[in-house]
Amino acid sequence: MSERTYPPTPEFVRGANVQGMDGYRDLFNLAEAQPEKFWGDLAEKEIFWFEKWSHVFEWNPPFVKWFVGGKTNVSYNCLDRHLTTSRKNKLAILWEGEPGDQRMITYQELHRLVCRFANALKGRGLKTGDRAVIYMPMVPELPVALLACARLGIIHSVVFGGFSAEALKARIQDLDAQVVITADGGWRRGKEVRLKPAVDEALIECPTVKHVIVYRRTGSETAMQEGRDHWWHTLDEGVSEVCPAEPLDSETPLFVLYTSGTTGKPKGIVHTTGGYILQATLSMKWVFDLHEEDTYWCTADIGWVTGHTYIVYGPLSAGATSVMYEGAPDFPQFDRFWRIVDKYKVNIFYTSPTAIRAFVKQGDQWPKMHDLSSLRLLGSVGEPINPAAWEWYHKVIGGERCPIVDTWWQTETGSIMIAPMPGAVPLKPGSGTLPMPGVLADVVDLSGKPVEVNREGFLIMRRPWPSMFRTLWRDPQRYEENYWKRIPGNYLTGDAARRDADGYYWILGRIDDVMNVSGHRLSTMELESALVRHPAVAEAAVVGKPHEITGQAVVAFVTLKKGAWDHDTLGEELRKWVAHEIGSFAKPEQIRFSDTLPKTRSGKIMRRLLREIVTTNSVTGDVTTLEDLGVLTKLAAQHDDE
Ligand code: WT7
Repeated sequence: MSERTYPPTPEFVRGANVQGMDGYRDLFNLAEAQPEKFWGDLAEKEIFWFEKWSHVFEWNPPFVKWFVGGKTNVSYNCLDRHLTTSRKNKLAILWEGEPGDQRMITYQELHRLVCRFANALKGRGLKTGDRAVIYMPMVPELPVALLACARLGIIHSVVFGGFSAEALKARIQDLDAQVVITADGGWRRGKEVRLKPAVDEALIECPTVKHVIVYRRTGSETAMQEGRDHWWHTLDEGVSEVCPAEPLDSETPLFVLYTSGTTGKPKGIVHTTGGYILQATLSMKWVFDLHEEDTYWCTADIGWVTGHTYIVYGPLSAGATSVMYEGAPDFPQFDRFWRIVDKYKVNIFYTSPTAIRAFVKQGDQWPKMHDLSSLRLLGSVGEPINPAAWEWYHKVIGGERCPIVDTWWQTETGSIMIAPMPGAVPLKPGSGTLPMPGVLADVVDLSGKPVEVNREGFLIMRRPWPSMFRTLWRDPQRYEENYWKRIPGNYLTGDAARRDADGYYWILGRIDDVMNVSGHRLSTMELESALVRHPAVAEAAVVGKPHEITGQAVVAFVTLKKGAWDHDTLGEELRKWVAHEIGSFAKPEQIRFSDTLPKTRSGKIMRRLLREIVTTNSVTGDVTTLEDLGVLTKLAAQHDDE
């Protein structure tokens, strides 16, 4: 347990949006004692409403509504409301492509792009409640597409560009999407990543899709299907720049984002309008301490929730200038991020522990090549940050002057839940510190009773919060069973945690069969189902192995069907197979072949044992050797029948 604490400097406190522990406690206590007043006042102050709500929330566990009867529009809050202020010609997006191209887009210009594209969507007959699947590189047209959908109440679902055609197809089908918005490709490590061919492959079995809109990014040869496919630039040519934002009910679905659960099928997390935009906006001010003059940069991809809330909706609603970068951190060399920080004089920088550990490994010479003195606040998200990486980030990147906000949240929570307010809360490396005002977290045992100080337990939420997900797409039953049944009436996060004597939260990792690789959630079951779809595979068991950079790495134990298999070539083939079924980011680091898998008498695979094998086995050696798990299986069956 690292016990060195880092209180904010008096200078930081003086300029902060929330000052000192008293500032934090006042907000927290008010939210706890009078949630209706707390959230109602903030919603009125921070958000534009076409029509005010009749009551602040309606809680029929496990279903909640926020700002009931209110009418607003997320796109209006991100754009239109700034146009009558000094933000009209302020930069909204400072974009840099991987090859070095740049675009600087003001709020007014972004508004124009969004209105034109929204009119193009309308022109295709798309309307409130329809579904758009978005599969794009990190170009400004990606936020434009999101905001245009939000403007009309079209539900968007962004599929990360690293997902395969198979994964894309499954999501399009689950949503019965009417439109797919994509691009010819994008740039990554100097190479073109093609996107449109994957869309074509996916759409062979997606009869609901009537339109495909293709943004031209790389300019490479792209097949277009007459009648179905349209170039973005021809569609929005000559369309009107006037497109009023629809006044939408506060509970209108804004987006569905798929994430991995404990079964083979990803879950469609449904977020709605009013509550989501309120907390996205507030956390920019509370956690990132956003000031009007700041340049802010979140390095995530918009394909994950971090990019939704902290590249698109939060920063734009809060009126920030935000940097957006298309490519890889190591292209053309390992100083790219620091070059960008220096060039645009970034003040607030938000990235993942995996990225930080990769930088640590490459050495201090890369950040030292650049002037990083513009930075005043650093952030971390996606997985626990180990104290050594924290200290490096603090010293080498932050020059020992920048607080680090370690932000705990999930796709389901919509916005940051546990994190320090940087002008208030003393930091402890490795801890997300304290919950946000209005977030009533707890660490409990299976009966729902709080565990003692420093004891491990389940991290839960006792009350609903405005930006929480509302359900799983077309599966309210799974929503209820997954999250609300174990400890009735409380939201089960799926994480284990402990709380120290100061009430600080320390996240200990997942309690379910979900892995965290580079801050991306991967499901054991999803990987296993992908593997057994391969004709050679009889059975598969997947576990996470601690990894120096990515936190965890995927190791798959595989038993084969009868036949003469060449383990050397099959290992690589199976890795490629997973890339085909899910996406290349999900490729197992190792495939280990075995005659049997350790099981309980009732037939459940004992992943715990496999996890032990991969963790303690220091020499992994030849990954293609056949493991003899037979002995282990017998032993296990005698001693363990969980
Ligand atoms: C899971 C959520 C929303 C962020 C992107 C990932 C882990 C996230 C932290 C953190 C320790 C963290 C948890 C959580 N996680 N942030 N600061 N410290 N663990 O979103 O894919 O929905 O994954 O990521 O295990 O449950 P996600």
